[in-house]
Amino acid sequence: AAPTDYQAEDATISQGVVESNHAGFTGTGFVNYDNLVGSYVEWTVSAPAGPADVTLRYANGTAANRPLDWTVNGQAGAVGITYPGTGAWTTWQTKTVRLQLVAGVNKIRARATTADGGPNADRLTV
Ligand code: GCU
Ligand code: CA
Ligand code: CA
Repeated sequence: AAPTDYQAEDATISQGVVESNHAGFTGTGFVNYDNLVGSYVEWTVSAPAGPADVTLRYANGTAANRPLDWTVNGQAGAVGITYPGTGAWTTWQTKTVRLQLVAGVNKIRARATTADGGPNADRLTV
């Protein structure tokens, strides 16, 4: 099937806020993760069972990596994925992980694992 976009600002957010103060986002804004371990964005995606390429569009205006752990319905998916600096908060890049999805509802969560929180998150494409 053709890829579908899921905006971060429409997802479930734990310890983060929707903002729009850095240009270049799609949709109506992006999620600014709170800068702490455990903040997350969780998208609800319906898909057929099997491996899927899941692409996050993000910005990181710092020089430090902002790693995320990805889970699907609470199951480990992709651990310690790196989101290095993009040069500016207005410079957005994409990174793709492959996750095993189940038929029906997939709660795809991207959780910050360092005290810096995650990168600013614009959207997921699945
Ligand atoms: C700045 C920036 C935010 C970003 C934050 C961070 O405050 O404006 O968009 O999320 O830095 O370092 O996480
Ligand atoms: Ca932040
Ligand atoms: Ca967005």
